[in-house]
Amino acid sequence: MFGLSTPPLPALDLMAPEAISDPQGYFAELRMRQPVYWDPRYRSWLITSYQHTAEALRDERFSSDRIDPYIRKKLSGPETDPLVRQAFEVLSGWMVFKEEPAHARLRRLCTLAFTPQSINALRARVESLCTELLDAIPSSYEFDLITQVAAPLPSIVIAEMLGVPVADRANFERWTALVSPLVSTGLDDPTRYGSVASGMASLVEYFTGLFARYREAPADNLISALLRAAEDEDALSEAELMATCTLMLFGGHETTANFIANGVLALLRHPDQLAMVRHDQVDMKHALEEFMRYDGPGKTVVRVAREDFEFAGHSIKAGQRIFLILSVANRDPAIFEDPERLKLDRGQVRHLGFGSGSHFCLGAPLARLETGIAIPQIVKRFPGLRLAQGPLKWLPFLGTRGLRELRLLAS
Ligand code: HEM
Repeated sequence: MFGLSTPPLPALDLMAPEAISDPQGYFAELRMRQPVYWDPRYRSWLITSYQHTAEALRDERFSSDRIDPYIRKKLSGPETDPLVRQAFEVLSGWMVFKEEPAHARLRRLCTLAFTPQSINALRARVESLCTELLDAIPSSYEFDLITQVAAPLPSIVIAEMLGVPVADRANFERWTALVSPLVSTGLDDPTRYGSVASGMASLVEYFTGLFARYREAPADNLISALLRAAEDEDALSEAELMATCTLMLFGGHETTANFIANGVLALLRHPDQLAMVRHDQVDMKHALEEFMRYDGPGKTVVRVAREDFEFAGHSIKAGQRIFLILSVANRDPAIFEDPERLKLDRGQVRHLGFGSGSHFCLGAPLARLETGIAIPQIVKRFPGLRLAQGPLKWLPFLGTRGLRELRLLAS
């Protein structure tokens, strides 16, 4: 009769400093007590357990099509800046926001670039690029791993894959940086629209020129391959080409930089595992999946309910937003033994860091190649590598788990 009632859950704030610095810790109680939870503050569902997240990723009632409705609802009025609308229209063509059959068609046209053979052909180039970037860091020196190695590596690789000439790279990087908050932070921040729109307009103009150039003189790159596909029956429109090229650009850029940096940070916090990587005592194929499970860069993906339906005993209504918190699902003790520890020799790790189902990350083989080369090279190059003084600053983003900088001492 006097049984203890369960205390209510503390109020949650997805953007609270603790939720940003340690999402896995912050949401652990929620995952245990209410793995499918209606958050009144964000007017959204939060899904945090592995099982429910995996199910939702594969369930078509959780729709990925959320940009077109946003454009219709918020950006259709005459007061909308045409450049802002253009930026969102490019985004709305991304396959990651498409439903079938449009999604499968776009994906099929890009898969050739990501076969194991195509990715393996990049190995030597990625190795030498990584060596060059590391050579530029003097030893006994404090440096930011992100700006000096982790970010330039994937960004140069994807620019080369697409066919962006070296001379254009600085401008290309600048515009990409302007647009990137749109991709990383979600859509609810109109204060950033101005710079995002101008960055996207410059990218659109630049890619239009590049399409014309490779139409005239095809070369061995992804843009030429997509243009060839555009001449087939299943033609890609100019807008679809633009969407696909920008998706490749953003999909593979900051995510991979954070994969590398989060992995190095995890190693510095687990010296026994660091020693194993330094002495080639781990199978990197499995170790990469454990880095992703432990603290991967893909923190959250968003879905919208396509219709009213029941899920895990809850009534989800058409149009409601759902956050699938991958990084919290990846530490679910119901699935992973001792989930709070990085154990590079776990063997097979079935994490959700690259998503699951039809939208499973197309670029995963490339991200694995780059990170699998970068992490061992970095820790072997500097045997006394350690964290520099000062607090770690995590980016206040919902979608991505990444550091603003990772200052290290090279010795
Ligand atoms: C560690 C790095 C990466 C992480 C953590 C990551 C994560 C993800 C996730 C979680 C999804 C699924 C999104 C959803 O279901 O809504 C996804 C999709 C996608 N990613 Fe990645 N990604 C990474 C690297 C890359 C790279 C290097 C590329 C390409 C160059 C890329 C291209 C894509 C594309 C095209 C999709 C959409 C696939 C589809 O809709 O069918 N990603 N990624």
